[in-house]
Amino acid sequence: KGNYLYTVIVLGASGDLAKKKTFPALFGLYKNKYLNPKTHIVGYARTKMDQATFEDHVTKYIKLKSEDDKAALKDFLKLCSYQDGQYDKDSDFQRLEQRLVQVEKESGATERLFYMALPPSVFIKVATCLKHNNYSKEIITRLIVEKPFGMDLESSRKLAKELGALFSEEEIYRIDHYLGKEMVKNMMILRFANVIFGSIWNRQSIDNVQITFKEKIGTQGRGGYFDEFGIIRDVMQNHLLQILTLVAMEPPVSLNSEDVRDEKVKVLRFIPPITREDILLGQYGKSEDGKEPGYLDDATVPKGSKTPTYAAATLFINNERWAGVPFVLKCGKALDQQKTEIRIQFKNVACGIFKSLSRNEIVIRVQPDEAVYVKMMNKEPGLGMKTIISDLDLSYSSRFNDSVIPEAYEALILDALNGDHSNFVRNDELDAAWKIFTPILKKIDQGEINPIPYAYGTRGPKGLTEFVAKHGYTRGEQE
Ligand code: BG6
Repeated sequence: KGNYLYTVIVLGASGDLAKKKTFPALFGLYKNKYLNPKTHIVGYARTKMDQATFEDHVTKYIKLKSEDDKAALKDFLKLCSYQDGQYDKDSDFQRLEQRLVQVEKESGATERLFYMALPPSVFIKVATCLKHNNYSKEIITRLIVEKPFGMDLESSRKLAKELGALFSEEEIYRIDHYLGKEMVKNMMILRFANVIFGSIWNRQSIDNVQITFKEKIGTQGRGGYFDEFGIIRDVMQNHLLQILTLVAMEPPVSLNSEDVRDEKVKVLRFIPPITREDILLGQYGKSEDGKEPGYLDDATVPKGSKTPTYAAATLFINNERWAGVPFVLKCGKALDQQKTEIRIQFKNVACGIFKSLSRNEIVIRVQPDEAVYVKMMNKEPGLGMKTIISDLDLSYSSRFNDSVIPEAYEALILDALNGDHSNFVRNDELDAAWKIFTPILKKIDQGEINPIPYAYGTRGPKGLTEFVAKHGYTRGEQE
């Protein structure tokens, strides 16, 4: 726990991400003694704010559950300070440097973690100023960077080149917060610490894999931002694809970051780019009762936008283990539920002595209500030999009800403080991910694909059931 001594600098400290995720995560780490109690946290952004306003901003999304939490927050705030400045002015970054030197004199810290919670337009400007004014070889420097990492293969490579000219890959931590989620981290243990799954985790036994992300809310206030990116860039190309690599990768040589990431990149490189036939796009309209607005009703969304708010895509991994097994990724906003899950569906039972069988499935529910359950056939209790589908259920709320599941950002910031890259995205991984999606994104951006409308609060666009069925998923009985 908290032995290393860092100064944490949050760039973009006045923004939404910092307020909702970064500061609450830092507080969580502090409260649980994962941050050295001497750690200083310095916020930097353009907005002018005094200390009291900054403290309000920092604490807005922090949930206090006890008197101890309240006391911890009071102490935590003593370590936080704020400085305003422009994102491209060396003199402002020199003032920041003076503050850093001053707080480091107090704390004795010799390491710096820069958390870049910034819009893409100022990203390289800030990185350049940091390199010129706040960097020295004597200080261990780490940089957490947030998506978007470009818009496609080309822009991502450009960004990588520019950032790579300033900081080494060793210093860069590209965050994908899904890699910090408890159940996503559990994937490695489920797969590689259990003998019972190893021999069935392949094309011989598995029929298809479904990775689903559903959100109930629409773009609410983020329409302008969202419209530039769309659901594929927002969720599928990063979060869902990262989950896919963990489901599909070969066992790494060790848990060492590079060993893990080598295996993940290999999976991505076996996936050919998505074709038009393998994708279904949707855009939400008003809810059926007319109360919730449609995507195009959002004033910040350009009129007539064809940006998808829902996407289902089928990916194939052309290697020995997975050839022919569809991996169906589905994600959407303004749907009927909030849920992220991984569903691994097995093949039909070959032996024909029983009728009315359902397929085996392993389901890993990432959120809400973390759980792993296995759907299996059982004898219906009673006389006779009737079969019934039932669950072997490991629901966290009943099995681990005393444990607190950490926030994804807490887990990842701690990893970065420890210098552990395994749950961060490596440059070549990003490149391989963009290669899969860039051709179809170009078609979408050029307006070649009309998204299918669906009503706010429903399951998704028409044709979804057929799309999923086409790629092997069966509900209920085996034929
Ligand atoms: C973000 C997306 O990366 O992930 C959002 O930009 C999305 O659009 C969010 O809502 C989902 O994260 P979580 O942790 O709430 O599932």
